[in-house]
Amino acid sequence: MAAVTLINGNAADFRGDADLIMTDPPYDLPGAELARILGGIRSDHLVLVTSMRQLMEFAAASDWRLSFDFVLDAVVPKDSKARHMPHYTHQTGVYMTRNGAKSRFDRRRRERSDTFDGKGFWPTVLRSPRNRNREHGMAKNLTAWTDILGSFNVASVVDPFAGSGTTGFAALDLGIDATLVEIDKAHCDRIERSLGFAGLPVRRAA
Ligand SMILES: C[S@@+](CC[C@H](N)C(=O)[O-])C[C@H]1O[C@@H](n2cnc3c(N)ncnc32)[C@H](O)[C@@H]1O
Repeated sequence: MAAVTLINGNAADFRGDADLIMTDPPYDLPGAELARILGGIRSDHLVLVTSMRQLMEFAAASDWRLSFDFVLDAVVPKDSKARHMPHYTHQTGVYMTRNGAKSRFDRRRRERSDTFDGKGFWPTVLRSPRNRNREHGMAKNLTAWTDILGSFNVASVVDPFAGSGTTGFAALDLGIDATLVEIDKAHCDRIERSLGFAGLPVRRAA
């Protein structure tokens, strides 16, 4: 059975490896800093939900190469008080590889929950409504996240900016081992509690 390893710590200090990095870092993290942090993780495959600004900085500072991009249709607008900023109703995602790695994406692996086609139709806009009721304001839509992860041929995943642990829940559903790193202790405690309530195996590392 797949398991989740939960680390309450700074992603910058994390050293490990996984078939895939799947993550959604804070959007105000400079792209060059993100490149440095992900550089400490041994993996040639990356699913990154990001802002266009962060992506451009990240691409310039790293050797990751774009395989394809997608859009999470968040449906509900992001709360924004700043008049000079639009209300984003979408988030940008990318699948990137490095070191010449062959793509692990296979759109026939999993039938998408938001499409009705048995032939592996994989439109690049994914229905992914924001759920304002979840305790972590940045929590990703679990159904969309599971659909994305399930479309990759991987046995392990690491999320260095775990938030509410969506990657861990998706991974367990799919039978994939997950390592979650989250700097905020309260978020970690919440992930541990939710996994515990669900009776799922979680190992807390220092
Ligand atoms: C956008 S949220 C991730 C949301 C997550 N995808 C989910 O579905 O819940 C980013 C998370 O990264 C965490 N974080 C920020 N800087 C970090 C760091 N240096 N190391 C580890 N976690 C960090 C924040 O506390 C926050 O929970």
